Amino acid sequence: MSKQRVLTGITTTGTPHLGNYVGAIRPAIRASQSDDVESFFFLADYHALIKCQDPKLVHQSTTEIAATWLALGLDTDKTMFYRQSDIREIPELTWMLNCICAKGLMNRAHAYKGAVDANLAENEDADKAITMGLFSYPVLMAADILMFGANKVPVGKDQIQHVEMARDMAQRFNHIYSSKKNPLLTLPQYAVDEDVAILQGLDGRKMSKSYGNTIPLFLTEKQLQKHINKIKTNLLEPGEPKDTNDSTVFQIWKAFANEEQLAEMTQAYADGIGWGDAKKKLFALINAEISEAREKYNELLTRPQDIEAELQKGAEKARKLSVPLMEQVREAVGIFGLK
Ligand code: TRP
Repeated sequence: MSKQRVLTGITTTGTPHLGNYVGAIRPAIRASQSDDVESFFFLADYHALIKCQDPKLVHQSTTEIAATWLALGLDTDKTMFYRQSDIREIPELTWMLNCICAKGLMNRAHAYKGAVDANLAENEDADKAITMGLFSYPVLMAADILMFGANKVPVGKDQIQHVEMARDMAQRFNHIYSSKKNPLLTLPQYAVDEDVAILQGLDGRKMSKSYGNTIPLFLTEKQLQKHINKIKTNLLEPGEPKDTNDSTVFQIWKAFANEEQLAEMTQAYADGIGWGDAKKKLFALINAEISEAREKYNELLTRPQDIEAELQKGAEKARKLSVPLMEQVREAVGIFGLK
């Protein structure tokens, strides 16, 4: 049996933080080590343009995200690691899909609907500041997925709808253009991992760039300690027992601790560990897990041409799949050389 193809896109806006690490990067790299799957990871830089029109930020984020995955030990021989914009076939497939995708389907996409609702709530024109990029974002995402015949797309809950739309588009395309026996596009399935921790941020809400409450993954030790010191706690004094359930410090501890360390900290809370102590321990725990990768990351950032070489290697491998598929798609829709 052929291996399951698992595909994940990372939009290149922003700098990876501990929440991304615990909730997405670490589990994805672990899963990619299994021999039962073929993993595709790509930097979704075309998607970045929808959200961010600052060229410097898009470029810097692409560099940082690539360096992060490499520093954390992603095996680029075993997996596909590439940049969306290097795969010239993706925008081409996007257009083919645009031509079979119902506009009504896109009207229901929640990123677009959310923007419309926000406009209406402000008594503005429904489509104020909404670009075609935002409107047709799920079509580009469908092209990412269908280009490589992905079977499984691990996503957060907010992205489920997009994978379902990709599935709809694949079905529609196959119905129009290919035989039942030999469907051209593979129908993808979303996968939501309920076990993966959603990390809390400095203020106790979900750690997210939009809340401004993140702890970036690769800070210097000093900055990491400083950020951890800012995590919100309550006013209980050292010696007073503390509740593990409503503690962000404990929640983050749990995401990094092994069983023994978890039991130790649970006991320490019951024994009334002081917040200062708990935070010092949390710093040491996180730092132990990431310090080696941090060094690698900083070193990689001084050699962007080596990061680029990895991406080129990935693009070359990925295009071995995308070029032939696109040839078939062109042929199927009637766009090919005159014979
Ligand atoms: N839209 C996804 C996000 O914002 C990123 C993404 C782009 C993606 N293309 C993809 C994810 C394809 C999975 C598959 O998180």
